[in-house]
Amino acid sequence: MDLSQSRKETQDKRLRAPSSDRYPLDALGEGFMATILVTAGPTREHLDGVRYLANGSSGRMGFAIAAAAVARGHSVRLVAGPTELDPPAGADVQRVVSARDMHAAALRAFEGADVAFGVAAVADFRPSTCVDGKPAKHEVATTIELVPNPDVIASLGEIKGERCVVGFALEADAADASAIEKARAKLARKHLDLCVLNSASAMGADSNQVTLVWADGRTDPLPTMSKSQLGAELVDRVTASRGEVGDDS
Ligand code: C5P
Repeated sequence: MDLSQSRKETQDKRLRAPSSDRYPLDALGEGFMATILVTAGPTREHLDGVRYLANGSSGRMGFAIAAAAVARGHSVRLVAGPTELDPPAGADVQRVVSARDMHAAALRAFEGADVAFGVAAVADFRPSTCVDGKPAKHEVATTIELVPNPDVIASLGEIKGERCVVGFALEADAADASAIEKARAKLARKHLDLCVLNSASAMGADSNQVTLVWADGRTDPLPTMSKSQLGAELVDRVTASRGEVGDDS
């Protein structure tokens, strides 16, 4: 049997493997065709039909992960807030506006997925009320009451079962020793398998320097690299082979 035929048979076996064998992080084999959900970009929390609260997330990191996953042949579901970027061709893209929209879309897209990357800069709070249209300036309340938004990735973490959930942590200074401890706490609180720790300077930038904080206690500081390179690195590490999935030979 030639190499390509052998590869194809291994691939077929992986695709046929029972779902309980396919999901664990340490069993996603290299070449395994995973279904990968990525949340990306900011959310907008409207005060009225025109005005909103938002943040400066460009969506670049999430789109880079989605693009890398498509390039590796994975099936990609991208749930993206409002960004200027064009989504990668080949991804199944759902555009959303608010955190609540993103929460609902991500929960739906997580069904049948193997891995979720929560890269979106989801607004933690939204105005308690939103009115239609555009009230005139003198009609706008100058005090805004905020209510908490759902935590998208934590909701996926709660229901993940054997699926792999990856979150990001943005600290003012990721090199600070306490930043890793905070990332560990986030990993536990949100039931993540991996927390990608980066600095606030990553927002809107082309490159990023991150430390990977794994659920098993390992930490891997990565060198500074472009967001495209980092996207590929993250997809590869998360789907890296640590055992032949469904291979009973
Ligand atoms: O708690 P914090 O916002 O620092 O956590 C960041 C991580 O949680 C990111 O992976 C982000 O996408 C995710 N998150 C979320 N929903 C929220 C807040 C954060 O999915 N409401």
